[in-house]
Amino acid sequence: MNNILEIRNLHQYFERGTVNENHVLRGIDLALNDGDFVTVIGGNGAGKSTLLNSIAGTLPIREGEIFLNGQNITQQKVQQRAKNISRVFQDPKMGTAVRLTVEENLALALKRGEKRGLSAGVKAKNKDFFKTQLATLGLGLEERLAAEIGLLSGGQRQAITLLMATLVKPQLILLDEHTAALDPKTSAVVMNLTEKLINEHHLTAFMVTHNMEDAIRYGNRLIMLHQGKIAVDVAGEAKAKLTVPDLLELFQKNSGNELADDKLLLG
Ligand SMILES: Nc1ncnc2c1ncn2[C@@H]1O[C@H](COP(=O)(O)OP(=O)(O)O)[C@@H](O)[C@H]1O
Ligand SMILES: [Mg+2]
Repeated sequence: MNNILEIRNLHQYFERGTVNENHVLRGIDLALNDGDFVTVIGGNGAGKSTLLNSIAGTLPIREGEIFLNGQNITQQKVQQRAKNISRVFQDPKMGTAVRLTVEENLALALKRGEKRGLSAGVKAKNKDFFKTQLATLGLGLEERLAAEIGLLSGGQRQAITLLMATLVKPQLILLDEHTAALDPKTSAVVMNLTEKLINEHHLTAFMVTHNMEDAIRYGNRLIMLHQGKIAVDVAGEAKAKLTVPDLLELFQKNSGNELADDKLLLG
């Protein structure tokens, strides 16, 4: 098997067996190739975060299987998976330790997937490495090594979180609307940075976005989730040429539903 990630017949339910049962994922089958940069869209509540939580291991899997590089990780714990799977969330506060400095956060990132409780001590030999890595972000953060993360802006924190997620190359990076909390200008900066890091490190990426235009602009493959299933999966040449009207037409053809453009954009 050459797939980085393979998901087989994944189902997720909330409050299963109650009157409030919510069958969120309804048989997801998906295989990602090495180097795939997949953008993921879908309306509010479509199950995008649930899918990411299933892959990362924060949500247990009772139905279906997940393989990473051919290894069955379905029952693997979050911490174990974190060695190979890194994650960036919507909330800039989630990715970094607020009381620690920039360099201490980066030192922690070097230990991703190792047991908690290790010190965030910064080895002298790593300082230069962190500095050069920060400089590649192009935001002047290489001058802020000793600054507490909590003093930085949301955009700066997301940039650092991205760097932390790639400092040790992950087999897969999961991005969950990681620019949604930023203003449009900062969002564009962080998106460009995301693309740069993904390309430079030849990462396999799975990026949820609420922004249909970003979903079309970035990546080599686009997936749309609808009612717990993959309603659109377009890659390669077809993805490169994709426009918003094409996407709406594809969605309609595959799902039999009409979908207003703005509904997706708001999703
Ligand atoms: N921990 C949870 N407990 C109960 N319901 C949940 C939980 N997480 C998500 N849901 C529900 O599952 C559905 C999908 O949520 P989510 O995956 O967060 O959607 P998306 O990220 O596409 O907006 C929603 O109806 C949401 O209310
Ligand atoms: Mg979500």
